[in-house]
Amino acid sequence: MTAPISEQLNADELLESGQRKMEWARQHMPIMGSLRESFEADQPFAGERIGMAMHVEAKTAILAEVLAAGGAEVAITGCNPLSTHDDVSVALDAVDGVTSYAKRGVDDKEYYEAMEAVIDHEPTITVDDGGDLVFAIHEDYPELIDTIIGGCEETTTGVHRLRAMDDDDALEYPMFAVNDTPMKRLFDNIHGTGESSLASIAMTTNLSWAGKDVVVSGFGYCGKGVARKASGQNANVIVTEVDPRRALEAHMEGFDVMPMDEAAAEGDVFITTTGNRDVIVEKHFEEMSDGVLLANAGHFDVEIDLEALEANAQRTYEARDGLQAYEMPDGRRLNVLAEGRLVNLAAPVSMGHPVEVMDQSFGVQAVCAREIIQNGDQYEAGVHNVPDELDREVAEIKLEAEGIEMDSLTGTQEEYMDSWQHGT
Ligand code: NAI
Repeated sequence: MTAPISEQLNADELLESGQRKMEWARQHMPIMGSLRESFEADQPFAGERIGMAMHVEAKTAILAEVLAAGGAEVAITGCNPLSTHDDVSVALDAVDGVTSYAKRGVDDKEYYEAMEAVIDHEPTITVDDGGDLVFAIHEDYPELIDTIIGGCEETTTGVHRLRAMDDDDALEYPMFAVNDTPMKRLFDNIHGTGESSLASIAMTTNLSWAGKDVVVSGFGYCGKGVARKASGQNANVIVTEVDPRRALEAHMEGFDVMPMDEAAAEGDVFITTTGNRDVIVEKHFEEMSDGVLLANAGHFDVEIDLEALEANAQRTYEARDGLQAYEMPDGRRLNVLAEGRLVNLAAPVSMGHPVEVMDQSFGVQAVCAREIIQNGDQYEAGVHNVPDELDREVAEIKLEAEGIEMDSLTGTQEEYMDSWQHGT
């Protein structure tokens, strides 16, 4: 196994490496650049403390530094034990106004200690990816809730968790569902997850997509991206689903659709993107061919039942960096990437989504944080959709940066679209 970067480099080298990664990301994040300019001028977060639990890599670091440039005191940790880039964490910690507690390869205890260290800053705004920070505050630090103005959630699973809390009247401050905006979900979940998951799998295994049977579980936003891009690289894609409309959608897009009980015997590569648990379980392992690859792109590491795989294997060994082989009693080898955690972020070679995609997602995060400060008192405790004008603002900055112009509605068109009297 290659040693982690924190053991390969000394402190100065780590700092320099992280700073270089951040500089590259910064160069390709025009939305964050534009927001940085306005935040530096207006200082919307002066006197505020922002607590963040996110994948700490270069793009997230740019979000944190932009919030700090707007006057915030930022404390950040990871939202996954394997997704932190230690060099970026060191570089981020050196940014004025930011403290980073994130470290790669932490155990459960260290993971939650780092989260508590963030909470010790007594945040007035929280920015989460997966909901662990909001959950920890509600469970263990309810006394902080009165001073928290609001927060933002990045991913589908986190929004799902927050809506469940809200349904139980257990969510005690307002949270924006950043994930659900067009500027996030139509780009980050689809293109980001598609491109970066396939890239991470290819880099980890050095194997080709062409001619492979690739089983994609879940045909939601992430699954669509993975399926389409695998197909674009000449794989034969099989989709498994539990929602009849999404199963039909996959069928109409030309993919084979079947239950996992059948797909298990067909696939060369399995990629789960459901946000659910126990999607690939013991009975499926029994059907799989020798050499299959198993990867998860959903938020938590519960989609593939690794406990059952481990219990059934006669031996397990690291076949490559980030790839664990489980040898079954009949000699078949099933290969799991990144311990079943988000493959595009947790595999040793992974860098997460492309920079341009995260510029959009984090643009929405940044304007939501600004909205919490400017209009926080208008939002009650609970989950809120991001106001459409904020999402449009981010899209307009991006179009301008890309030099793309578009049409706008004429007065007559606006009046026509708003009226119900016009007919045949
Ligand atoms: P989504 O809700 O749009 O899609 C999930 C799909 O999985 C749905 O169509 C659902 O019917 C299906 N599904 C649920 N249980 C299933 C089962 N047992 N078998 C087959 N299909 C099943 O959600 P989205 O946005 O695609 O997100 C999926 C997961 O990916 C979430 O955990 C989310 O947090 C995570 N995510 C990961 C990213 C990454 O970088 N890897 C980026 C964005 C989201």
